[in-house]
Amino acid sequence: MGDRQQPMRAIAAGVMLAVENGQSLSQCLPPALNRLPANERPELQALCYGTCRWFHRLEGELNGRLKKPLRKPDRVVHHLMLVALFQLRFSQQATYAILNETVEACRALDKPHLTGLVNGVLRAAEREGAPEPADDSARFSHPVWMVEKLRHNWPEDWQQILNANNAQAPMTLRVNALRFSRDEYLGLLKEAGIEASPTRFAPHGIQLAHPVPVDQLPWFADGAVSVQDEAAQLCTTLLDLAPGQRVLDACAAPGGKTCATLESCGELAEVVAIDESAERLPRVQENLDRLDLDATLKQADAAATDQWWDGEAFDRILLDVPCSASGVIRRHPDIKLLRRESDITPLAAIQLGLLDAMWAILKPGGRLVYATCSVFPQENHRIIQRFCKQQTDAILVEPEAQWGRDMGAGRQLLPDPDSHDGFFYAVLEKPEP
Ligand SMILES: C[S@@+](CC[C@H](N)C(=O)[O-])C[C@H]1O[C@@H](n2cnc3c(N)ncnc32)[C@H](O)[C@@H]1O
Repeated sequence: MGDRQQPMRAIAAGVMLAVENGQSLSQCLPPALNRLPANERPELQALCYGTCRWFHRLEGELNGRLKKPLRKPDRVVHHLMLVALFQLRFSQQATYAILNETVEACRALDKPHLTGLVNGVLRAAEREGAPEPADDSARFSHPVWMVEKLRHNWPEDWQQILNANNAQAPMTLRVNALRFSRDEYLGLLKEAGIEASPTRFAPHGIQLAHPVPVDQLPWFADGAVSVQDEAAQLCTTLLDLAPGQRVLDACAAPGGKTCATLESCGELAEVVAIDESAERLPRVQENLDRLDLDATLKQADAAATDQWWDGEAFDRILLDVPCSASGVIRRHPDIKLLRRESDITPLAAIQLGLLDAMWAILKPGGRLVYATCSVFPQENHRIIQRFCKQQTDAILVEPEAQWGRDMGAGRQLLPDPDSHDGFFYAVLEKPEP
């Protein structure tokens, strides 16, 4: 049987298995979506995102309902039941349809010997209703280590962070300031019948009341706007850009902040955008092309400056380091399954290494903006504190900002269910000799 004939739930179970085995949704979902007709794709996407979002809660329920775990070769059926439980608990779909179609998907996965088990588990789940969550991992649907780390790091806010991570993120736009003012674009959206409002902190940001496909946004293909969270947009307010500056975006792909930088100051001397990922770097060029912007792209490890740097120091450096992405879990719920506690210390070492290397190629009098989409202090203000301890000439600039919290060495935004993602920024300046 060709892949195309597989029912949607069977495809969703395969995607969940791939995530459990370490692939991100952005890697394994697109090929899965392509196996379905266009009108069925949003539902598959919602199934996979929703099952990841509620994985730790659903997993607790399912394990409680199984007498013993399924054998490894049957693991895909475990995920099939998680997908069905997600629908049972969180969707409006009729129970009989969920049951029938899940049993049919079980057959399509070539596991006819498990249809009785699937049917029995789901019937019991329907009859008995959702169990009380056994612990905070199940209650907030996050891995135990994340709950504990957040509780430890944010004793006043951890529950609010966990709840925000489970909420649907708004769709936020960045108006291309070289083309339209924010008010002009708000006018175009109104004419198009799209409800929207200005973001509170980012000067070119617009938040939509409801998400829409980008091709419905006026002049999207012509570069009028980009989709970018409000917190990510704030980088340009910190860079203090001026005409003639040479700017480095050291970890640039897919180029959201590269483009925001170019849009916010039209006469920069040059923007150099580096990314070590050959797979991700072309996305920067695609974004530049759509927005009709220019940057010098290089595929390199930014820290290996001997391999790519021409010797001319930068006036401004944006260092948007690789991180746990714990501030954007609501947009990437697969992070709950993919990230390990043991990832954080090696990430912190990479972050500090990148900061050291970038400092060396910043002009005296220049400014470096350090950014993460993390809410773990270990990747954020503690990196800046460690850096400032060893680089005693670095000047820590306290940005004049209405947003986030002053952490003593940078500002932290926690994810807000009504607006921005979780993010961290610190601004450092190098003294003139
Ligand atoms: C947080 S993402 C950047 C997002 C991007 N700044 C934007 O706003 O669209 C981090 C990026 O760093 C890249 N990266 C990781 N380690 C790197 C290194 N040593 N040198 C250059 N790029 C690196 C990753 O490939 C990834 O694309």
